[in-house]
Amino acid sequence: MMPSLFADINKSFWFPEQASTFATQIDFLYDVILWISILFFIPIVVAMVYFMIKYRERPGYRGSPEALHNTTLEITWSVVPTFIVVWIFWEGTVGYLNMQRLPPDTEDVKVTAKKWNWNFKYKNGAENPELHVEIGKDAKMIMRSEDVLHSFFIPAFRVKRDVVPGRYNYLWFQPTVEGTFDLFCTEYCGDNHSLMNTKVFVHDKAGYEKFLAEAIKEPDDIVERGKWLYERKACKGCHYAGKEGSQGPGPSYNGSWGKPVPLAVGGEVPFDENYVSESILNPIAKVRKGYETAAAMPSYKGQLKEEQIEAITAYIKSLQSAEPPKK
Ligand code: CUA
Repeated sequence: MMPSLFADINKSFWFPEQASTFATQIDFLYDVILWISILFFIPIVVAMVYFMIKYRERPGYRGSPEALHNTTLEITWSVVPTFIVVWIFWEGTVGYLNMQRLPPDTEDVKVTAKKWNWNFKYKNGAENPELHVEIGKDAKMIMRSEDVLHSFFIPAFRVKRDVVPGRYNYLWFQPTVEGTFDLFCTEYCGDNHSLMNTKVFVHDKAGYEKFLAEAIKEPDDIVERGKWLYERKACKGCHYAGKEGSQGPGPSYNGSWGKPVPLAVGGEVPFDENYVSESILNPIAKVRKGYETAAAMPSYKGQLKEEQIEAITAYIKSLQSAEPPKK
């Protein structure tokens, strides 16, 4: 079906499922405008075609030389549409202001966009590359970008707002349906813009609390902890950990450990603990050959503790063999 080209979760003809309070309001106004347009378009076109035929130039036909008019008809077709468009403007403005005005008691999530990941940070400090929210509760996104312009878009909630470097932007919504929905970056932000899609999970109250409690726990095993950090600290967006040789914007993690790293400036260095640690804290110190033009990785100085860098190192070390990558 045609609509499936436009959106992946189809509940109505044009749009994905309505999963927030905004969605019902916005779709209502959209439908009203659509139907008004259809109801005007059809009689106007029909009358136009009819008059074209009826009053066409032909042998023996003489049109009236005077321009006639009908005051009642003209006032009606000016006044009625005026009321309709003013009503549409009013409804649109109220809806827009409602989206702008942040409600008082919200569940706040700090959203960080960077090439090419989302990071969501919750009230208890938990971080996650996917968004989790509670059904029936107003959620507020406090959004910033670490590099370029991105845009936060949840089609099922009908919310979209740019995420701008150098300032905070806000957005709120109230989810009304439990389930999983798409979350996109909808502003072209570089090579891998299309990878900046993730999911939003709408939980019930207990499910949301459970998520928060689990998301804060780092795994005990050092390799597992490294993988956990890799997924949450935006390493995953650029450095693939899949089968050896798979390529992302940055060098792959798999199969790199212990091998010499050819440098952009010439020469090589061993891929060891020092190289990993230095590359995390000061990514431009030793750029790998072939990645000179890759978008510069941001420094993780102050964002990762020594112990966390060790865990990531252990994870990279574990990705050595031709064995299938751990899921
Ligand atoms: Cu971020 Cu497109």
